[in-house]
Amino acid sequence: MTTRSMIDTMRARKSVRTFETEKLTVSDIEKITSFIKDEQNLIGPFGNRGQIEFVQVKKNVTDKGFKIGTYGFIKNPQAYLVGRSANEKYALVEYAYIFHRATLFAAQLGIGTCWMGGTFTRNSFEKEIRLGENEFIPCVTPLGYLKEKQRVFDKALRYAVKADNKKSWEKLFYDGTFETPMAKENAGPLEVPMEMVRLGPSASNKQPWRLVLSENRQTCHFFIEHTPKYSSSFGYLMQLLDMGIAMCQFELACQELQIEGEWEIEEPELKRLSENTEYVVSWRVD
Ligand SMILES: Cc1cc2nc3c(=O)[nH]c(=O)nc-3n(C[C@H](O)[C@H](O)[C@H](O)COP(=O)(O)O)c2cc1C
Repeated sequence: MTTRSMIDTMRARKSVRTFETEKLTVSDIEKITSFIKDEQNLIGPFGNRGQIEFVQVKKNVTDKGFKIGTYGFIKNPQAYLVGRSANEKYALVEYAYIFHRATLFAAQLGIGTCWMGGTFTRNSFEKEIRLGENEFIPCVTPLGYLKEKQRVFDKALRYAVKADNKKSWEKLFYDGTFETPMAKENAGPLEVPMEMVRLGPSASNKQPWRLVLSENRQTCHFFIEHTPKYSSSFGYLMQLLDMGIAMCQFELACQELQIEGEWEIEEPELKRLSENTEYVVSWRVD
């Protein structure tokens, strides 16, 4: 079987909440556990190392005997990837980047995933993995083979969060300043990486990413437009995770297209969209 390119994988990805009852194959488990053990896959964009746990489940019970649940959001999960991070702005952004890369690797193997920051029993997962001091579980994802026939619940949930309704380029991306919305055909070589940001998953599908591409097309600034009301401490945290996901989608697309560049934290002097706009990071093409 040929592996799907990363860009095609990102285009095809959707959150999966209903899985087949079939177990993950030994070979797939081997591939995933090797991936999350490999140092190279655990280093984030700011050079820090993350850690991801693989937890197998049988009827929602782990090998250690803990019952874990998702309030009915997920059906027939065969395993979980479980994240751990400090609860601090850049640690969370970086962690989400690392975790998302692992979910995309699973997707390349034909394994379904669904980022979850809210609808899982955090306490029981915390018993399962031993957390370090100052660590918490920001996210988990179930793993399993996609069941073609999704539940009515899945469809209703997708409808409720408008999961298939991704915001347009003009709403997410800007040309030079926040005053000028960006037209897709003007983005130059960064068009596809930006499109991958647009297609990425986000908490409650709020799509809080706002990107400003510099006039010379060499630098792309990443901002979060925090959703008012949603941005209690929990929503704020979720939107930091969304940002790490956006960075991962963007950089993996750049890698595939052989666009060299690097991340820097250097806020441009721009009039912001609103008081809810927060600068995070910029990508500079080499
Ligand atoms: C940080 C984050 C947290 C999420 N938390 C949950 C969750 O707790 N439960 C859930 O069912 N989906 C969760 N999702 C999945 C989103 O609802 C989903 O990505 C969004 O609706 C877009 O759909 P798509 O992933 O199919 O494009 C989360 C996604 C992200 C990125």
